[in-house]
Amino acid sequence: MLLIKSRKQLKDHLSPLKKNGSLGLVPTMGALHIGHASLVERAVKENSSVVVSIFVNPTQFNNTEDLDNYPQTLTADIEILEKISDQIIVFAPNIQEMYTEKVVSDTYDFDGLDKVMEGAFREGHFNGVGTIVEALLNLVQPNKAYFGEKDYQQLQIIRKLAEIRNIPVEIIGCPIVREANGLAFSSRNERLSKKIRNEASFIYKTLITAKKKFGTKSATHVIEWASQQFKEHPDLELEYIQIAQADTLEPIINKHQDKKYRAFIAVYAEGVRLIDNIALN
Ligand code: PAJ
Repeated sequence: MLLIKSRKQLKDHLSPLKKNGSLGLVPTMGALHIGHASLVERAVKENSSVVVSIFVNPTQFNNTEDLDNYPQTLTADIEILEKISDQIIVFAPNIQEMYTEKVVSDTYDFDGLDKVMEGAFREGHFNGVGTIVEALLNLVQPNKAYFGEKDYQQLQIIRKLAEIRNIPVEIIGCPIVREANGLAFSSRNERLSKKIRNEASFIYKTLITAKKKFGTKSATHVIEWASQQFKEHPDLELEYIQIAQADTLEPIINKHQDKKYRAFIAVYAEGVRLIDNIALN
Protein backbone atom coordinates (compact mmCIF):
# COMPACT_ATOMS: atom_id res chain seq x y z
CA MET A 1 0.00 0.00 0.00
CA LEU A 2 1.42 3.32 -1.01
CA LEU A 3 0.06 6.50 0.59
CA ILE A 4 0.75 9.61 -1.48
CA LYS A 5 -0.20 13.12 -0.40
CA SER A 6 1.32 15.31 -3.11
CA ARG A 7 0.25 15.72 -6.73
CA LYS A 8 3.86 15.77 -7.95
CA GLN A 9 4.74 12.54 -6.15
CA LEU A 10 1.61 10.92 -7.60
CA LYS A 11 2.44 11.99 -11.14
CA ASP A 12 6.03 10.77 -10.82
CA HIS A 13 4.89 7.44 -9.44
CA LEU A 14 2.22 6.89 -12.11
CA SER A 15 4.15 7.76 -15.24
CA PRO A 16 6.12 4.44 -15.53
CA LEU A 17 3.05 2.42 -14.47
CA LYS A 18 0.96 3.87 -17.30
CA LYS A 19 3.45 2.75 -19.91
CA ASN A 20 3.16 -0.86 -18.79
CA GLY A 21 -0.54 -1.38 -18.20
CA SER A 22 -3.96 0.04 -17.50
CA LEU A 23 -4.79 2.41 -14.70
CA GLY A 24 -8.05 2.59 -12.76
CA LEU A 25 -9.22 5.47 -10.56
CA VAL A 26 -11.78 5.31 -7.74
CA PRO A 27 -12.52 8.79 -6.39
CA THR A 28 -13.91 8.84 -2.82
CA MET A 29 -14.29 11.12 0.15
CA GLY A 30 -13.11 8.40 2.53
CA ALA A 31 -15.00 6.91 5.49
CA LEU A 32 -14.92 3.83 3.32
CA HIS A 33 -17.55 1.10 3.55
CA ILE A 34 -18.59 -1.99 1.59
CA GLY A 35 -20.12 0.16 -1.16
CA HIS A 36 -16.79 1.87 -1.84
CA ALA A 37 -14.99 -1.46 -1.52
CA SER A 38 -17.11 -2.92 -4.34
CA LEU A 39 -15.86 -0.19 -6.70
CA VAL A 40 -12.26 -0.75 -5.65
CA GLU A 41 -12.56 -4.54 -6.06
CA ARG A 42 -13.85 -4.09 -9.57
CA ALA A 43 -11.09 -1.60 -10.41
CA VAL A 44 -8.45 -4.03 -9.09
CA LYS A 45 -9.88 -6.82 -11.27
CA GLU A 46 -9.91 -4.70 -14.41
CA ASN A 47 -6.62 -2.78 -14.18
CA SER A 48 -2.96 -3.43 -13.51
CA SER A 49 -2.71 -0.38 -11.20
CA VAL A 50 -5.42 1.35 -9.14
CA VAL A 51 -5.49 4.76 -7.49
CA VAL A 52 -8.09 5.37 -4.76
CA SER A 53 -8.38 9.06 -3.95
CA ILE A 54 -9.57 10.12 -0.52
CA PHE A 55 -10.46 13.79 -0.33
CA VAL A 56 -13.38 15.48 1.40
CA ASN A 57 -14.08 18.06 -1.26
CA PRO A 58 -15.27 21.31 0.37
CA THR A 59 -16.63 22.88 -2.84
CA GLN A 60 -19.37 20.26 -3.22
CA PHE A 61 -20.86 20.83 0.24
CA ASN A 62 -23.64 23.37 0.25
CA ASN A 63 -24.08 22.88 3.99
CA THR A 64 -21.12 23.69 6.26
CA GLU A 65 -22.52 21.54 9.06
CA ASP A 66 -22.54 18.52 6.72
CA LEU A 67 -18.92 19.28 5.77
CA ASP A 68 -17.85 19.71 9.42
CA ASN A 69 -19.55 16.45 10.39
CA TYR A 70 -18.14 14.47 7.49
CA PRO A 71 -16.16 11.57 9.02
CA GLN A 72 -12.39 11.44 8.38
CA THR A 73 -11.01 7.96 9.04
CA LEU A 74 -7.84 7.59 6.98
CA THR A 75 -6.27 4.80 9.08
CA ALA A 76 -9.39 2.65 8.96
CA ASP A 77 -9.78 3.42 5.23
CA ILE A 78 -6.27 2.18 4.52
CA GLU A 79 -6.99 -1.03 6.44
CA ILE A 80 -10.05 -1.68 4.26
CA LEU A 81 -8.07 -1.05 1.08
CA GLU A 82 -5.16 -3.22 2.21
CA LYS A 83 -7.52 -6.17 2.55
CA ILE A 84 -8.54 -5.74 -1.11
CA SER A 85 -4.99 -5.42 -2.46
CA ASP A 86 -1.66 -4.27 -1.04
CA GLN A 87 -0.84 -2.78 -4.45
CA ILE A 88 -3.41 0.03 -4.25
CA ILE A 89 -2.11 3.57 -4.46
CA VAL A 90 -3.95 5.82 -2.01
CA PHE A 91 -3.95 9.49 -2.91
CA ALA A 92 -4.98 11.59 0.10
CA PRO A 93 -4.09 15.25 -0.55
CA ASN A 94 -4.97 18.13 1.75
CA ILE A 95 -7.03 21.09 0.57
CA GLN A 96 -4.02 23.30 -0.33
CA GLU A 97 -2.51 20.47 -2.36
CA MET A 98 -5.73 19.82 -4.29
CA TYR A 99 -6.96 23.38 -4.78
CA THR A 100 -3.99 25.07 -6.39
CA GLU A 101 -4.35 28.08 -8.70
CA LYS A 102 -4.90 25.58 -11.55
CA VAL A 103 -7.99 24.13 -9.90
CA VAL A 104 -10.62 26.79 -9.56
CA SER A 105 -14.28 26.04 -9.03
CA ASP A 106 -15.73 26.01 -12.50
CA THR A 107 -19.29 26.46 -13.76
CA TYR A 108 -20.29 23.69 -16.11
CA ASP A 109 -23.06 23.28 -18.63
CA PHE A 110 -24.23 19.75 -17.91
CA ASP A 111 -27.13 19.97 -20.34
CA GLY A 112 -29.76 20.20 -17.61
CA LEU A 113 -28.59 17.07 -15.76
CA ASP A 114 -27.65 19.26 -12.79
CA LYS A 115 -30.91 21.22 -12.69
CA VAL A 116 -33.10 18.50 -11.15
CA MET A 117 -33.18 16.54 -7.88
CA GLU A 118 -29.80 16.82 -6.08
CA GLY A 119 -28.88 19.79 -8.25
CA ALA A 120 -32.11 21.60 -7.41
CA PHE A 121 -31.83 20.94 -3.67
CA ARG A 122 -28.05 21.33 -3.27
CA GLU A 123 -27.02 24.65 -4.77
CA GLY A 124 -23.60 24.48 -6.44
CA HIS A 125 -23.08 20.83 -5.50
CA PHE A 126 -22.44 19.48 -9.00
CA ASN A 127 -20.10 22.32 -9.96
CA GLY A 128 -18.04 21.29 -6.94
CA VAL A 129 -18.18 17.61 -7.92
CA GLY A 130 -17.30 18.48 -11.54
CA THR A 131 -14.34 20.63 -10.45
CA ILE A 132 -12.77 17.97 -8.26
CA VAL A 133 -13.47 15.03 -10.57
CA GLU A 134 -12.09 16.92 -13.58
CA ALA A 135 -8.95 17.77 -11.57
CA LEU A 136 -8.52 14.13 -10.49
CA LEU A 137 -9.08 12.77 -14.00
CA ASN A 138 -6.54 15.22 -15.42
CA LEU A 139 -4.01 14.44 -12.73
CA VAL A 140 -4.28 10.63 -12.75
CA GLN A 141 -5.27 10.18 -16.42
CA PRO A 142 -6.81 6.77 -15.79
CA ASN A 143 -8.08 4.41 -18.49
CA LYS A 144 -11.17 3.72 -16.40
CA ALA A 145 -12.82 5.59 -13.51
CA TYR A 146 -15.40 3.96 -11.24
CA PHE A 147 -18.52 5.54 -9.74
CA GLY A 148 -21.50 4.09 -7.88
CA GLU A 149 -25.12 4.10 -9.04
CA LYS A 150 -25.89 5.06 -5.44
CA ASP A 151 -25.23 8.61 -6.70
CA TYR A 152 -26.84 7.97 -10.05
CA GLN A 153 -27.23 11.65 -10.96
CA GLN A 154 -23.56 12.23 -10.16
CA LEU A 155 -22.64 9.26 -12.40
CA GLN A 156 -24.58 10.74 -15.35
CA ILE A 157 -23.02 14.15 -14.74
CA ILE A 158 -19.51 12.69 -14.72
CA ARG A 159 -20.21 10.90 -18.01
CA LYS A 160 -21.25 14.30 -19.39
CA LEU A 161 -18.17 15.98 -17.87
CA ALA A 162 -15.85 13.52 -19.65
CA GLU A 163 -17.74 14.18 -22.91
CA ILE A 164 -17.76 18.01 -22.75
CA ARG A 165 -14.13 18.25 -21.60
CA ASN A 166 -12.95 15.55 -24.05
CA ILE A 167 -11.35 13.49 -21.31
CA PRO A 168 -10.32 10.10 -22.73
CA VAL A 169 -11.57 7.86 -19.93
CA GLU A 170 -14.13 5.10 -19.66
CA ILE A 171 -16.62 5.90 -16.89
CA ILE A 172 -17.82 2.70 -15.23
CA GLY A 173 -21.09 2.70 -13.24
CA CYS A 174 -21.26 0.13 -10.42
CA PRO A 175 -24.40 -1.26 -8.72
CA ILE A 176 -25.65 -0.02 -5.34
CA VAL A 177 -24.47 -2.11 -2.36
CA ARG A 178 -26.97 -2.34 0.50
CA GLU A 179 -26.98 -3.18 4.19
CA ALA A 180 -28.79 -6.40 5.17
CA ASN A 181 -32.05 -4.47 5.69
CA GLY A 182 -31.86 -2.85 2.24
CA LEU A 183 -30.58 0.59 3.25
CA ALA A 184 -27.93 1.70 0.73
CA PHE A 185 -24.48 1.87 2.36
CA SER A 186 -23.43 5.45 3.00
CA SER A 187 -20.82 7.09 5.21
CA ARG A 188 -23.70 9.14 6.61
CA ASN A 189 -25.52 6.02 7.94
CA GLU A 190 -23.04 6.01 10.86
CA ARG A 191 -24.68 9.19 12.13
CA LEU A 192 -28.08 7.51 12.52
CA SER A 193 -29.33 5.95 15.74
CA LYS A 194 -29.85 2.19 15.59
CA LYS A 195 -33.63 2.65 15.60
CA ILE A 196 -33.69 5.10 12.69
CA ARG A 197 -31.04 3.21 10.72
CA ASN A 198 -33.42 0.29 10.82
CA GLU A 199 -36.45 2.42 9.99
CA ALA A 200 -34.56 3.90 7.02
CA SER A 201 -34.78 0.51 5.31
CA PHE A 202 -38.26 1.75 4.45
CA ILE A 203 -36.71 3.91 1.70
CA TYR A 204 -35.63 0.84 -0.29
CA LYS A 205 -38.86 -1.02 0.48
CA THR A 206 -40.77 1.91 -0.99
CA LEU A 207 -38.57 1.91 -4.10
CA ILE A 208 -39.15 -1.83 -4.62
CA THR A 209 -42.93 -1.42 -4.36
CA ALA A 210 -42.79 1.67 -6.59
CA LYS A 211 -41.06 -0.46 -9.21
CA LYS A 212 -43.83 -3.08 -9.04
CA LYS A 213 -46.55 -0.43 -9.27
CA PHE A 214 -44.80 1.33 -12.17
CA GLY A 215 -45.51 -1.75 -14.33
CA THR A 216 -49.26 -1.05 -14.32
CA LYS A 217 -49.84 2.44 -12.87
CA SER A 218 -49.03 5.96 -14.04
CA ALA A 219 -45.94 7.78 -12.74
CA THR A 220 -48.16 10.36 -10.99
CA HIS A 221 -49.98 7.58 -9.18
CA VAL A 222 -46.71 5.97 -8.06
CA ILE A 223 -45.28 9.29 -6.82
CA GLU A 224 -48.47 10.14 -4.91
CA TRP A 225 -48.60 6.67 -3.40
CA ALA A 226 -44.94 6.82 -2.27
CA SER A 227 -45.31 10.36 -0.83
CA GLN A 228 -48.31 9.14 1.17
CA GLN A 229 -46.30 6.20 2.54
CA PHE A 230 -43.68 8.56 3.94
CA LYS A 231 -46.36 10.53 5.79
CA GLU A 232 -46.81 7.40 7.90
CA HIS A 233 -43.08 7.46 8.77
CA PRO A 234 -42.60 10.94 10.25
CA ASP A 235 -39.00 10.12 11.29
CA LEU A 236 -38.17 9.99 7.58
CA GLU A 237 -38.83 13.44 6.17
CA LEU A 238 -39.23 13.13 2.41
CA GLU A 239 -37.41 15.85 0.45
CA TYR A 240 -38.33 14.56 -2.97
CA ILE A 241 -39.45 11.51 -4.87
CA GLN A 242 -38.99 11.76 -8.60
CA ILE A 243 -39.33 9.47 -11.58
CA ALA A 244 -37.03 10.49 -14.41
CA GLN A 245 -35.60 9.21 -17.67
CA ALA A 246 -32.49 7.23 -16.86
CA ASP A 247 -30.23 8.95 -19.40
CA THR A 248 -31.38 12.59 -19.50
CA LEU A 249 -32.86 12.68 -15.95
CA GLU A 250 -35.82 14.61 -17.34
CA PRO A 251 -38.82 14.17 -15.04
CA ILE A 252 -41.31 11.77 -16.59
CA ILE A 253 -44.42 13.20 -18.20
CA ASN A 254 -45.86 10.30 -20.16
CA LYS A 255 -44.48 6.80 -19.99
CA HIS A 256 -42.85 5.62 -23.24
CA GLN A 257 -42.36 1.89 -23.73
CA ASP A 258 -38.96 2.35 -25.37
CA LYS A 259 -37.46 4.56 -22.62
CA LYS A 260 -35.72 3.59 -19.39
CA TYR A 261 -36.86 5.21 -16.15
CA ARG A 262 -35.55 5.40 -12.58
CA ALA A 263 -37.11 6.48 -9.31
CA PHE A 264 -35.09 8.73 -6.99
CA ILE A 265 -35.68 9.53 -3.32
CA ALA A 266 -34.04 11.94 -0.85
CA VAL A 267 -35.05 11.99 2.82
CA TYR A 268 -33.85 13.57 6.04
CA ALA A 269 -33.58 11.27 9.06
CA GLU A 270 -32.26 12.70 12.34
CA GLY A 271 -30.89 15.61 10.33
CA VAL A 272 -28.95 13.26 8.03
CA ARG A 273 -29.65 13.39 4.32
CA LEU A 274 -30.09 9.98 2.67
CA ILE A 275 -30.51 9.30 -1.06
CA ASP A 276 -31.41 6.18 -3.01
CA ASN A 277 -32.70 5.17 -6.44
CA ILE A 278 -33.84 2.19 -8.46
CA ALA A 279 -34.23 1.20 -12.11
CA LEU A 280 -37.96 0.90 -12.83
CA ASN A 281 -37.91 -0.94 -16.17
P1 PAJ B 1 -18.29 9.27 -1.84
O1 PAJ B 1 -19.61 9.63 -1.27
O2 PAJ B 1 -17.19 8.91 -0.90
O3 PAJ B 1 -18.51 8.08 -2.83
C1 PAJ B 1 -17.44 7.58 -3.60
C2 PAJ B 1 -18.01 6.64 -4.63
O4 PAJ B 1 -18.60 5.51 -3.98
C3 PAJ B 1 -19.14 7.29 -5.46
O5 PAJ B 1 -18.98 6.93 -6.82
C4 PAJ B 1 -20.39 6.68 -4.87
O6 PAJ B 1 -21.48 6.61 -5.77
C5 PAJ B 1 -19.90 5.30 -4.49
N1 PAJ B 1 -20.76 4.70 -3.47
C6 PAJ B 1 -21.08 5.23 -2.26
N2 PAJ B 1 -21.96 4.42 -1.61
C7 PAJ B 1 -22.18 3.35 -2.43
C8 PAJ B 1 -22.99 2.18 -2.34
N3 PAJ B 1 -23.76 1.94 -1.27
N4 PAJ B 1 -22.99 1.32 -3.37
C9 PAJ B 1 -22.23 1.57 -4.48
N5 PAJ B 1 -21.45 2.66 -4.62
C10 PAJ B 1 -21.42 3.54 -3.62
O7 PAJ B 1 -19.33 10.48 -4.36
C11 PAJ B 1 -18.38 11.02 -3.80
O8 PAJ B 1 -17.73 10.48 -2.74
C12 PAJ B 1 -17.84 12.36 -4.26
O9 PAJ B 1 -18.87 13.13 -4.79
C13 PAJ B 1 -16.67 12.24 -5.28
C14 PAJ B 1 -17.13 11.56 -6.58
C15 PAJ B 1 -15.50 11.44 -4.66
C16 PAJ B 1 -16.15 13.65 -5.64
O10 PAJ B 1 -15.73 14.33 -4.51
